[in-house]
Amino acid sequence: MYTSRISGLGCYVPENVVTNDDLSKIMDTNDAWIQERTGIKERRHIKKGDGNSTSVMGVKAAKIALERSGLSKDDIDFIIFATLSPDMYFPGGGVIVQDMMDMNTIPALDVRNQCSGFVYAISVADQFIKTGMYKNVLVIGSENHSGGLDMTTRGRGISVIFGDGAGAAILTRSEEEGKGILSTHLHSEGGHAKELSLEGPNTGHWVPEIIAENVQENIPYYPYMNGQFVFKNAVVRFSEVINEGLVANKLTTEDIDMLIPHQANLRISQFVQKKFKLSDDQVYNNIQKYGNTTAASIPIALTEAWENGKIKDGDLVVLAAFGSGFTWGSAIIRW
Ligand SMILES: CC(C)(COP(=O)(O)OP(=O)(O)OC[C@H]1O[C@@H](n2cnc3c(N)ncnc32)[C@H](O)[C@@H]1OP(=O)(O)O)[C@@H](O)C(=O)NCCC(=O)NCCS
Repeated sequence: MYTSRISGLGCYVPENVVTNDDLSKIMDTNDAWIQERTGIKERRHIKKGDGNSTSVMGVKAAKIALERSGLSKDDIDFIIFATLSPDMYFPGGGVIVQDMMDMNTIPALDVRNQCSGFVYAISVADQFIKTGMYKNVLVIGSENHSGGLDMTTRGRGISVIFGDGAGAAILTRSEEEGKGILSTHLHSEGGHAKELSLEGPNTGHWVPEIIAENVQENIPYYPYMNGQFVFKNAVVRFSEVINEGLVANKLTTEDIDMLIPHQANLRISQFVQKKFKLSDDQVYNNIQKYGNTTAASIPIALTEAWENGKIKDGDLVVLAAFGSGFTWGSAIIRW
C-alpha cells in the first residue's frame, strides 16, 4: 500500500508590501477597522512590471519546493495547479508551469476550488499516488488577487482582505506505514455559490455584453462576498471537517500538533483554536502579513511553519480550508 508524503515545500510572495495605511489613502478604510475585524496588518500585491503573474509566482514557489525535495524536474509525473485567478481565462496555470519549468509532456490539471483549492489538489495528488499511477506530484496554489479587486470604497469589504502569493508542495510516494497523508475529506454546498463569487465574465455573459454593460457599470466583474454569512458558515464547516478527519483516523483533538487553517480571517482561526482547545503554538497564522491568499494560503503557511521548525518528524499536522463554492476540506498528515 502506497501513501504520499510531503517531500518538499516552497513559497513566494511579491516584494511589494501594502499596509492598511496604504489602503486608507485610496479608499475609506482604516488600520483599526481592518485589524479588529480580520487581524490583517499588511498584504503583498504584485506591482506592474515586477514580472510576476499567478503562474510565475507558482513557478517560483515550485522551484524552491523541488530543490528541497532533492528531486529534479524530470522526476515529476504530474502537475496540479489550484487558483481562482489564472493568468488567462483558459488554459489554466498548470500547462504554463509545465512550459516554464521545462518539464517533459507530463499532465497538468487545474483545480477550481478557491480557498479549498490546495486541500482539494493534494487530495487529488494523494489518490494518484495511492493507486500507484504517479510517484511524484507537484501541487501549487497561487493567486494574483490584486489585479482583480475593486480598490475603491465600494469594494472595501473585500479588497482589504485579499493578497497575492504562491505556495507549492511535492508529494512523493512512500511505503512507510502510518506516515504521510493519512486521509483527506472534501465537501461542497453549491446552494451558496453566489455568497462569495465573481460572476463576470462567464459564458452566459459573454464578451460583447461585458463591453456594453461595463459602460453602465452594472456588470458583476468584481468579487461579491456576503461576509457575515461566509463567516458563520466557515466556523461551522472548519470545525466539522477537522473533526471528521480526526474521527476517521481514530484521533482526538489532543493528538493535533499543528493546525494550519486556511487564512481567511484571524477571528475564524481563533474561534476554531478555542473550540478545539489548542494553544497558540498549535495553530499557525500568518494572515497578519499576507491577508487571505486563497489557494496559496495553506501552502504558504505550511512552508513557513516548517521553515520555522514548528513541524517535526512524527507530528500530526491538520490542514483545514473553507471557501467559495462553498467548498471545504481537511487533510490529516503524520509528518
Ligand atoms: C468581511 C468581514 C471582515 C466584514 O466584517 P463585518 O463585521 O461582517 O462587517 P460588515 O460587513 O457588517 O460591515 C460593518 C461596517 O463596516 C463597513 N466596512 C466594510 N468594510 C470596511 C473597511 N474595509 N473599512 C472600514 N469599514 C468597512 C461596512 O460598510 C459597514 O458599515 P455600516 O455599518 O455603516 O453599514 C467579515 O464579515 C468576515 O471576515 N467574513 C468572512 C470573510 C471570509 O472569511 N472570506 C473568505 C472566506 S474563504
